[in-house]
Amino acid sequence: MNGFSAEWLALREPYDRRARSAALERRLADGLAARRTAPLAVIDLGGGTGANLRHLAPRLGGEQHWRIVENDAKLLAALPRAIAAWAMRAGHGFRTVEGGWQVESTHFSAAISLAPLDLAHELPALAPDRACLVTASALLDLVSGAWLDALLRRCAAARAAVLFALSYDGTIDWAPAHADDALVRDAFNAHQHRDKGFGAALGPSAAAMAQRLLAGLGYEVEVAASDWSIDSGADAMAHALLSGWVDAAIEARPHAHETISRWRAQRIEAIAGARAAAVVGHRDLLGWAPP
Ligand SMILES: C[S@@+](CC[C@H](N)C(=O)[O-])C[C@H]1O[C@@H](n2cnc3c(N)ncnc32)[C@H](O)[C@@H]1O
Repeated sequence: MNGFSAEWLALREPYDRRARSAALERRLADGLAARRTAPLAVIDLGGGTGANLRHLAPRLGGEQHWRIVENDAKLLAALPRAIAAWAMRAGHGFRTVEGGWQVESTHFSAAISLAPLDLAHELPALAPDRACLVTASALLDLVSGAWLDALLRRCAAARAAVLFALSYDGTIDWAPAHADDALVRDAFNAHQHRDKGFGAALGPSAAAMAQRLLAGLGYEVEVAASDWSIDSGADAMAHALLSGWVDAAIEARPHAHETISRWRAQRIEAIAGARAAAVVGHRDLLGWAPP
């Protein structure tokens, strides 16, 4: 039950990068620098082709050990190329080392290894005891409340800090509005709760649930907006999103098929003519374990 292509992850990566909360990332970097004993151990859950590492490693600085957990064989195979291409573009050193790869720059060095685990069934194999940071981007909305609870208890036992970026929050605000925006959004949001392999998915309530569970474990938690802005310059992204929303909405509300398809045609026309833009709500969450 895992359908994320490397192409889709590459398409969304620049939108994610622009959307993520710089303020939370600065607080994370400062807090870790104050607390850490080098090297900084990071576990990245559902790492895809490594976008979370590409974004965070330069912002965290210093010596880092990344363990990227992923169960999709195609994404695992694409990851080294994606990391190498990024390192080359950014002028970082990149080399293969025993058990993984090493990226070096003037202000950080990251040793990277892969953990090909199915998080839904192999959470106990994660063992975040040494981890200073457990992180994920665009993962929490896929998981169930029970799974998230089990993960966060493990993080708390390891006293790990957490950063969960880019959890969809259920809002899609169009300008100008269309009479059927709410129907499509609500149908899509209902679909978001379907099982993605972890049990009934949290979907749009993921960040709020994580915040509540972490607070119950004594964590200090901060949440910030990390919304995508989709405008007329975003044709490929807009088309991919509209297709995803509409397919899911029709699956969730088959009786509204015609209305949803008409909405799609009108939205595509409006986007192509630079007459519509959307803001898709996301949340970033930073949590510190109690001292
Ligand atoms: C929306 S993608 C985000 C990928 C990456 N973090 C990024 O920001 O580009 C969700 C990721 O979670 C991974 N995933 C989903 N279910 C998983 C599971 N049971 N075990 C491990 N990884 C999983 C997917 O393969 C995918 O790479």
